[in-house]
Amino acid sequence: MNSMKKEQYSFQFDVYDSIDALSKDDALLLQQARVVTQIAYAPYSQFHVGAVARLSNGEIVKGTNQENASFPVSICAERSLLSSTAALFPEANIETMAISYHNQNGHSSEPVSPCGMCRQALLEHEKRYDHPIKLVLGGTEGKVYVIERSSLLLPLSFTGDDLRK
Ligand code: THU
Repeated sequence: MNSMKKEQYSFQFDVYDSIDALSKDDALLLQQARVVTQIAYAPYSQFHVGAVARLSNGEIVKGTNQENASFPVSICAERSLLSSTAALFPEANIETMAISYHNQNGHSSEPVSPCGMCRQALLEHEKRYDHPIKLVLGGTEGKVYVIERSSLLLPLSFTGDDLRK
């Protein structure tokens, strides 16, 4: 006889009232992400994203979105950061990544989460280095989300393991 059951996925994350409630290290990283939004190249969307990572070797690496007149050529801040981190410090893993953004008004008051493509890229990086990437998400002001590991954002994910099935 055929049968069916429901499965459920949920996860928890921390919501802080503001950057002031974060640990010193996380607050510093988010502050750097806010600053780095100012050097994003986003002339088409006017949506300026900054991502900053703290690595296991103590290095800080920054990334911004880089747009292109041929829109699909553009790359998000998170993936530009993942690429440069792996190229510059291939031996180090990412401990924490802070992400911030601002719109054409130059500010923002709530967190945004990485897009689907970036979630897939973050997952690959976590698996490659066998280490969770903590995410700190916040606008230029307002509440902040802290997510223990980026892979929590991508349930039922497709990975290299699936290619060997
Ligand atoms: N963008 C990012 O850099 N990160 C995200 O997580 C979401 C979107 C960029 C891509 C594009 O340059 C602009 O924001 C608008 O989508």
